[in-house]
Amino acid sequence: MAKIAVVGAGYVGLTTAACFSHLGHEVVCGDIDAERVARLAEGDVPIVEEGLEQLVVDGLRHGRLRFVVGAAAAVAGVEFAYLCVPTPQAPDGAADLTFVESVAAEIGPLLASESIVVNKSTVPVGSTRIVQRALRRPDVLVVSNPEFLREGSAVHDFLHPDRIVVGADDPNAASRVAALYLGVPAPFIVTDPASAETIKYAANAFLAAKISFVNAIAAVCEAVGADVTDVVLGIGSDKRIGHDFLRPGPGWGGSCFPKDTRALVRIAEDAGYDFDLLRGVISVNSQQHARVVDKIRDAAGGSLDGVVVGVWGLTFKARTDDLRDSPSLAIIEALRREGAVVQGYDPTVERELDGIQLCVDPYEACAGARVLAVLTEWDDFRWIDPEHVGELMSARQVVDARNLLERPAWQRAGFTYQGIGR
Ligand code: UGA
Repeated sequence: MAKIAVVGAGYVGLTTAACFSHLGHEVVCGDIDAERVARLAEGDVPIVEEGLEQLVVDGLRHGRLRFVVGAAAAVAGVEFAYLCVPTPQAPDGAADLTFVESVAAEIGPLLASESIVVNKSTVPVGSTRIVQRALRRPDVLVVSNPEFLREGSAVHDFLHPDRIVVGADDPNAASRVAALYLGVPAPFIVTDPASAETIKYAANAFLAAKISFVNAIAAVCEAVGADVTDVVLGIGSDKRIGHDFLRPGPGWGGSCFPKDTRALVRIAEDAGYDFDLLRGVISVNSQQHARVVDKIRDAAGGSLDGVVVGVWGLTFKARTDDLRDSPSLAIIEALRREGAVVQGYDPTVERELDGIQLCVDPYEACAGARVLAVLTEWDDFRWIDPEHVGELMSARQVVDARNLLERPAWQRAGFTYQGIGR
């Protein structure tokens, strides 16, 4: 079993640390946020992530998982140092490597000889070499091991991945990293660092493209009178296409797809390739937010000025409390610009958000509303009685941007129902 440091206790770092300790390794997770570290040391996980708290508690109890403040405190005596720090988007669309580089510079002098620094943050192609330079330690190897963890099912994705990608110039370093995953049943793809880094961006860009494609097909379905649900069933049954990531919705969001697609456009541009296709994927996504706003405006009778809109769902998808780049918030912002008053509810959101009257339950969000908009696919919303909701609202109009609700039940309750592509 190995001694591993994980730098960064965000959802990637924390999942990585908890899962490696679950696999039997000795893990120290360092983060600069002292309050977060104190909570984690008590087994209190500050994010909504299925199964994660249990693994953290187990790791702490068995003494295989520790939390410390700072990167330097985490790396003493370890054989592997995982970098799981944020790579936010710079104003020009590129990924900002400031955190990655400063952590590398900080831990460089402290690392043991022959130890391995592993990049798990999503970093531009070439970053493995940038980290190597920032470390100033030729005797320490740098390997890329990108993550493919979905928020909400990150623990499951870590322990049951479709593949594990390791990018290294040194085959021995690659096998040492691969050995950390002993017990995880998955094929390994061992390649060079640039290819591993590209795999991460290409995977996210392809998934975003699938969703934009289905959202565009949904628009066509609306125009020609087809039902996108059946169309998706029809195309997804072709094994070459598959059913996954073909759910139409209000557009993709979150901390990864928007940032990574823009970064890949930029990476390609810098390398002399105009990634027109991916720019199209991004533009379809922004149009999708606008299309949902159009539907809500139509439901309100042509103007949103002074109209009360009840919104169910604020997070960028269900099973997370993450609001980063949430389509719901982009849509709400557009509604407010047109004068709408927004009453919002989300099962995981308790803190006040600018310009949204936050409600304690889905019913309060509907009180006096002219239109109800379903923007996140929380299961709880599926089973709410439309009759009861109708009694609370000033008009029976629903825009179901996730195609979540039982359309016939809402129509029977007198609602005018607008979904996506049906
Ligand atoms: C995504 C990838 O799925 C992970 O593999 C990757 O590791 C991660 O980014 C990352 O780079 O860290 P995540 O952002 O957690 O994971 O969320 P997804 O489940 O991929 O959903 C992204 C967005 O697409 C959400 O807004 C979701 O509602 C939307 N979506 C997803 C659809 O609109 N339709 C679908 O069929 C699927």
